[in-house]
Amino acid sequence: MAADLLHNQSLEEMDLRTMLHPATSIADHLANGPRIMAQASGVHITDTKGRRYLDGAAGLWCVNVGYGRQEIAEAIAAQAAALPFFHSFTSMANEPSIRLADRVLRWAPDGMSKVLFGSGGSDANDTNVKLVWYYNNLRGKHEKKKIISRERAYHGVTIASGSLTGLAVFHEKFDLPLPMVRHTKSVDQYRDKPAGMSEADYSAHLADELEKLILAEGPETVGAFIAEPVMGTGGVLVPPAGYFPAIQAVLDKYDVLMIADEVICGFGRLGAAFGCHKYGIRPDIMTMAKGLSSGYLPISASVISERIWAVLEDTAPEMAAFGHGFTYSAHPTCAAAALANLDIIEREDLVGNAARAGDMLKARLNADLGDHPLVGDIRGDGLMIGVELVADRKSRAMIDLAHKAAIRVMKRGYEENILVRALPHGNTIAMSPPLTLSDENIDELVPALKRAIDHVHGELRAENIV
Ligand SMILES: Cc1ncc(COP(=O)(O)O)c(C=O)c1O
Repeated sequence: MAADLLHNQSLEEMDLRTMLHPATSIADHLANGPRIMAQASGVHITDTKGRRYLDGAAGLWCVNVGYGRQEIAEAIAAQAAALPFFHSFTSMANEPSIRLADRVLRWAPDGMSKVLFGSGGSDANDTNVKLVWYYNNLRGKHEKKKIISRERAYHGVTIASGSLTGLAVFHEKFDLPLPMVRHTKSVDQYRDKPAGMSEADYSAHLADELEKLILAEGPETVGAFIAEPVMGTGGVLVPPAGYFPAIQAVLDKYDVLMIADEVICGFGRLGAAFGCHKYGIRPDIMTMAKGLSSGYLPISASVISERIWAVLEDTAPEMAAFGHGFTYSAHPTCAAAALANLDIIEREDLVGNAARAGDMLKARLNADLGDHPLVGDIRGDGLMIGVELVADRKSRAMIDLAHKAAIRVMKRGYEENILVRALPHGNTIAMSPPLTLSDENIDELVPALKRAIDHVHGELRAENIV
C-alpha cells in the first residue's frame, strides 16, 4: 500500500477505504459514511464530532452496566498483566474462568451442570447445535439431528446459528439455512393472535403448530427446539401467557431438547436473572453472551443440563477427547471482565432496576406515544422494549418497508441525541438501554424519541405515505 494513501486521510475516508461493516447497507454507508464513536460514560456516548447521545440500545443490547466502569477496566488490566491468555484444551485451566463457570451456574436455573465458554452468541449457538448432535450420537439416535427454530428468530450469523436465525436478510445470497433446520411460527401477539383469542389459546395454538411440524418431520429426526425467551431482533416479541410451558410439554413428549437463547435476556435485562426463570422454561442448553461481560470483552457460554452431562460422562470412557472448543474458550482476561461485571450487577441490584426502570419507561412511552397516529404497539419486558410504527392505528396497516419508517426514526434520533435501533423485520424500533437507566434518563430519552417520531410522521404525511 502506497504510504501517501495512508496520510492526510480523515478517519471517515480511512473507514470507507478499509472497512466492511456488519449488518450495514453498503450503498448507504458509501453515500453517508461512518458515525465514529469516541468515548462513553454511564448511558451516554460521544462521537468524534462531539455529539453526545443517550444510548437507548446499550450498544447491541449488551452494555448492561453502562459505560466507563473503572472496576472492569482495572480487572482487565490486572488479569492481562498476570496471565493475559492461556487455553483450556487438554485439561488446562485458569482461575477467572473456573470462578466464572461457578458464578454462571449459581445464576442459572436449577438442573444446569457444565459451562463451555466461547467468544460470542453466534459461536455459542453453533456449539449448541454440535452439542445436540453429539449427545444424540452418543445415545445412538443418529437420525435425531434437526433443529427447529422460529420465524423471525435471531440466533447469530455463523453457518449453523445463521441458519437458526429466521430473518431473510441473514439468509439471502448466503445459501442459508442449512437443510437440517426448520422454522415454526413465532409469537406475535399484535399481528398474529386472532382478535378475541385468549393468550392461553394462542399459546396452545402455537404449541399445536410445533407438534404438527415435529410429527410431519418425524420425531425420531428432531433433536432440539431453540427460542429466545423474549424475541429481540425479530421485533421484541413477548410470549403469550403459558407459551413456554405448552411448548415444553410438546418437547417432552417427543424427546426434543430445549435450547434457551438468553444472549439478550440473560443477566437481568428482563428484570429477572434469566428469561427461563420468568417464563417457565426448563432448558437443556442455555446460550449466554452480551450481558455476561456487558460487552467490555467478548465472551459467551453454552451451559448444558445435568441430563446432557450424564450422557457425556457415561460415554466418556469409550470416547477420545471431546473434540470441540476454541482457542479463546475460557479466556482468562475475558472471564475477569465478566466476573467484575457480575459483581456490579449484583452489588447495584441492576436486575431489580431493570424491572423498575422497565416499568417506568414503558409507562412513559405509553403516556407520551400511546395514542400517536404512527404508533401501533408498545411492548416488551423489563428493559427490552419495542415500538411498532403503523400506517393506521385502527386497522394496524403496515407501512410499506420501502419507506423505511423505522430507519428514518433511528436516523432522526441521531439529531435528537439518542440511539435507538430500527429492527430488520417490519417497522419496529427497539430500546434496550443499560440496566442502570434512571428516571432522569427516561425524561431525556422519551421526549427525544417522540420528537423523532413526530418529525418522521410529518415527512411520511408530506409524502402521502400515511
Ligand atoms: C438472541 C441472540 N442470539 C445470538 C446472537 C449472536 O450474538 P453475536 O453477535 O455475539 O454472535 C444475538 C446477537 O444479537 C442475539 O440477539
